Amino acid sequence: MADREWILLNPGPANTTPTVRAALVMPDLCHREPECFEMMRCCRDRLTRLAGATEDWTAVLFAGSGTAAVEAAIASAVPPGRAVLVVDNGVYGDRMVRIARAHGIPVTTVHADIFTPIDPAVVETALIGQPEVSHVALVHHETTTGLLNPVEAIARVADRLGRRVLVDAMSSLFGEPLDVAADGIDFAMASANKCLQGIPGIAFVIARRSAVEALKGQPPRSVYLDLYHHYVTQEADNTPFTPAVQVLHAMREALVELEAEGVAARIARYAENARVLRAGMAALGFEILVPEPARSHILTTFRLPPGVGYDALHDLMKRRGYIIYAGQGDIRTYAFRVSNMGTLTPRGMEEVVAAFGEALEELGVSAGARG
Ligand SMILES: Cc1ncc(COP(=O)(O)O)c(C=O)c1O
Repeated sequence: MADREWILLNPGPANTTPTVRAALVMPDLCHREPECFEMMRCCRDRLTRLAGATEDWTAVLFAGSGTAAVEAAIASAVPPGRAVLVVDNGVYGDRMVRIARAHGIPVTTVHADIFTPIDPAVVETALIGQPEVSHVALVHHETTTGLLNPVEAIARVADRLGRRVLVDAMSSLFGEPLDVAADGIDFAMASANKCLQGIPGIAFVIARRSAVEALKGQPPRSVYLDLYHHYVTQEADNTPFTPAVQVLHAMREALVELEAEGVAARIARYAENARVLRAGMAALGFEILVPEPARSHILTTFRLPPGVGYDALHDLMKRRGYIIYAGQGDIRTYAFRVSNMGTLTPRGMEEVVAAFGEALEELGVSAGARG
């Protein structure tokens, strides 16, 4: 039973404020009444503004997890007969490849290993050699490891070569500096339950209006995830399908709280959280696997102490109230992840480090990287 308060060190859903959670409890509301449309409009406007975009941009909401927004953007943006180039250096890049394939969209990739950001020059070479590619799709913050890809540099390359960019900013929007409106970018996808500190159930696409309007008349590859259909309907203060009404209400509260904190201040808090965590964990002997210049301020992948399995460390931390996160794929065998998004504070991160220290003591091991 989820009947106690956990400190969530998984990269979303993140801990939320009591006021965001309380906003879930509201009078029942018909989703086709003006009160609901007003709430949708308010969320869309705030999302666009807080993402730093102008009037030439909009936000389109979907009921679904974050992947709904990624799938809607990819399935809708790439015109028939054209291809998408996916930057693949982690689980979420790979997911974009699978989405494109599932919709029958020709897809090619540029690869790097999970600890290495993609070099924009490699994207440039790939685009020059592949004129059929209309769009580049990439993940800003690869949550697989906590790695940042150079979105703005890649967008500049794509723009120069006449291609458009889709950015999966799921685990970085509002937590890491990102200019969603940079030249070349048309769509940035994210969800309510990560750095926005809302409740899971809503995904959204921050869209350049000219790009979403250009989709008019393009045959949809999906009924539910048709970005243009959602856009025109939401623009008319309506909804094609039933939205997650209560989750929207909580998202509106999360947006109000983000505005009150300030996006820059939230980014700074996360950065300080990461600094405190990394300094404390380094003192305990933990090694960080992503090289320093490529690290986000949101998630850290640490090597497991020698001889310690993930489950043992997870369970010791859980007993202390903390939920750490396994690596995806093989990384699970040698590393684990700690996120510092959500309502966590630098003081709270000191407590996280202290709990890791106790866990090591109980295991009778050292984390291994101490000299
Ligand atoms: C970078 C990235 N993209 C996409 C997703 C998919 O989100 P969801 O599990 O909400 O569908 C996640 C989730 O962690 C993510 O981190």
